[in-house]
Amino acid sequence: MNDLSHLSADDWDEHHFPRPETNDFDRVVEAALTRRGFLRGVLAVGSGAAVMGSGLLTGTSARAQAAATFPFEGIAIQTDATIHVPDGYEWDVVARWGDPLFSDAEPFNPATGVTLGSSDKVFGENTDGMEAFVVDGKQLIAVNHEYVNVDTNLPQKGDAAFTAEDVQILQNLQGVTVMEVAEGADGWSIVVDSPMNRRIHHNTPMTIAGPAAGHDLLKTTADPEGRTALGTLNNCGSGKTPWGTYLTCEENFNGYFGASDPASVETPGFQRYGVKAEGRYGYELHQDRFDVTKEPNEPHRFGWIVEIDPADPDSTPVKRTALGRFKHENAAAVVAASGQVVVYLGDDERGEYLYKYVSNGTYTEGGSTEGLLDDGTLYVAKFHDDMTGEWLALTPETTGMDAGEILIHTRMAASAVEATTMDRPEWVAVNPVSPQGYVALTNNKNRGVKPNAGGDPTPVNGPNPRAENNYGQIARWMPDGGDHAATGFAWDLYVMAGNPIVGQGDYAGSDNVTEGNLFNSPDGMQFDTTGTLWIQTDGDDSNEGPFTGMGNNQMLAGDPESGEIRRFLTGPVGSEVTGLTWSDDLATMFVGIQHPDAPFPDGEGALPRSSIVTVKRSDGATVG
Ligand code: FEO
Ligand code: CA
Ligand code: CA
Repeated sequence: MNDLSHLSADDWDEHHFPRPETNDFDRVVEAALTRRGFLRGVLAVGSGAAVMGSGLLTGTSARAQAAATFPFEGIAIQTDATIHVPDGYEWDVVARWGDPLFSDAEPFNPATGVTLGSSDKVFGENTDGMEAFVVDGKQLIAVNHEYVNVDTNLPQKGDAAFTAEDVQILQNLQGVTVMEVAEGADGWSIVVDSPMNRRIHHNTPMTIAGPAAGHDLLKTTADPEGRTALGTLNNCGSGKTPWGTYLTCEENFNGYFGASDPASVETPGFQRYGVKAEGRYGYELHQDRFDVTKEPNEPHRFGWIVEIDPADPDSTPVKRTALGRFKHENAAAVVAASGQVVVYLGDDERGEYLYKYVSNGTYTEGGSTEGLLDDGTLYVAKFHDDMTGEWLALTPETTGMDAGEILIHTRMAASAVEATTMDRPEWVAVNPVSPQGYVALTNNKNRGVKPNAGGDPTPVNGPNPRAENNYGQIARWMPDGGDHAATGFAWDLYVMAGNPIVGQGDYAGSDNVTEGNLFNSPDGMQFDTTGTLWIQTDGDDSNEGPFTGMGNNQMLAGDPESGEIRRFLTGPVGSEVTGLTWSDDLATMFVGIQHPDAPFPDGEGALPRSSIVTVKRSDGATVG
C-alpha cells in the first residue's frame, strides 16, 4: 500500500513527472529529456509505425551509463541450480513446500512429498504473491500457492487417472498460507503452531460481496442465493489494503473446470475466459461443482480479488466483486489525495486489459472500511498514441450490460468500450514516492497467430509496440495532477526488455538494457519504501537463441528516475522468481522461488521444492 495523500502540490512539482498542460507528445518527451535523460528511450507508435526517440536503440555504445544508485554491484547471469546474490548479501531458506505449519503434520518425505492427512497443515506448493503484516508484535506473511506440479506432488502417479484422493491433496496444497515467522540464531523460520497460522485452500468457505453478489449468474445448487463460495483458485499475485488486509488474486481459474458434455463450454463467456471441456487436475471427475455441464455458474464464482484478514484466523475470506472478474494478476492499492481507495489490476492474458477500481467512499486511518471495496467504479485503460491516456468507466451506459454482468463478464465490458489490448499484463506497482503506476507486460509471443479470446487479433499499439514480443516491457502512467483517482494520465515505457547481443533495432531493447542486465519477461514487481522498483522475471531461461546472455530467471532493481536497472538475484534453473515483501524492520527481504526444476533447495535426490528465501545484508543494514 502506498499512501500518497500526504503529498502536496509543491511535492508534485518538485519531485514528480512533469505533467504537460496539453496532450502533446513532443512536450512530454521534451519535459522528460530535460528532467530525466533516459526517457529518450521511449518510443511512440502511430498507425502501427514506430517512431523512435533520438538516440534510441542504436546499440550498446549509445546505451545509458547510469549513475550508481544502488548499494550493490550487479551480478552475472547464472544457469545453475541455486541462488546468487551480490557480494555483501546472504540468502537463506525460510519456508519450503511441505514444511509443517502445525506440529501434527507429518515430516516432509523428500522422495514422496506430502500425505493427504498433512496436506492442509503444511506450507503449500508454488509460492507466489506475498505480503507481510505485523499483528500483536508477530511478523506474519500471507502468501499464495498458485498451482501444483503433479509430478512433484504425486511423484508415483505417472499417467494414471486422478483419483478423488489425488484431487483432495492437490486442492489442499494450493490457495493461501498465513503464517508467523520469526528470526532466531539460525535465521528465519516458520513459527510452528502459531495461533496465527492458517491454510486457506480450494474448499475453504468464502463470502461473495459487492454489486454482483446474488446475481443469477452466481447461483448454484449448493448456493441458491449466489452469496457464498467454496475456495479460492489459482492465487497468483497479491495486494495489501491500507487497513492491513491481504488481497489474493484469482488468475487462471478456468483450468480447474471441465465438462461431461463438451458442448457445455461453447458459450461466449466460457470461450472468452478459456473454460474448456477437460480440466488440468481432473476435479470435474470427482466433484460435480467443477463440471460445468452440471454447474454452469460455478466458474463465475472464481476470477475475483479475495480479501483475507491475517489478524483473525477465524475470519471468512471475502470475494470483492466490485473489482471485476478476470485472470487477476495482482492488486496494487493506493489512497488518492481525496481519500478514495484506488486499486490497479491487470488481466494476464494476451490481448486483455489493464484496470483500476476507485472507491466512492474515502479511507481514514482507524475509520470504518465498510464498502470501500464494494462500492465504487471499475475503469479500464485506453492508451493513446500521443502518450496520453484515459480510464474508461465500465457502466451500464457505456457497456450496454447490467451492473452485475459488467463485473462477472468484465472482459466483454472492456471490449465494449474499446479499451487498449495489452501484451499480457502481469504485476502492477505504485511508486510510493512519486505518483506513478507501473505494469509489467510480460511478453506476447503469438500476436496475430491466434486471435485473442475476444475474436480480434491483438494489434501493435503504443505501449505494446513490437509485433513479435519475446521479451516484454514495463509501461508506466503518471495520473493527471498526481491524483490516482483522476481519469486522465500521461504514459511512457520504463523499459523495453531486449537483447543487445543478438537483437537488432527495438529487439535490442531500450537504452537502459545493457549486456550487463539482460532479462526477459518481467512479471513480479514491488516498490520498496525508498522508491526502488524491484522487477522479477518469469521467462525463457534456456540462455540460447533470442535469450542468449539472459540466464536463469532473476530479480533486478530499477531506478525510476535514472532508468538504471541492475541485476540483484538469480534463481535456480527452471524456477521463476515471484513474490517479494520485507520484514517490519526492513532488514530482511522475503523472495519467492516458484517451480524450480532441479532439486532446490534440498539437493541431489530430493524433490524440488518451491520456497520462500530471505535475503539480508551481511552488515545488517536495511534492504528496502
Ligand atoms: Fe500467475 Fe500471470 O502469473
Ligand atoms: Ca506472475
Ligand atoms: Ca508470468
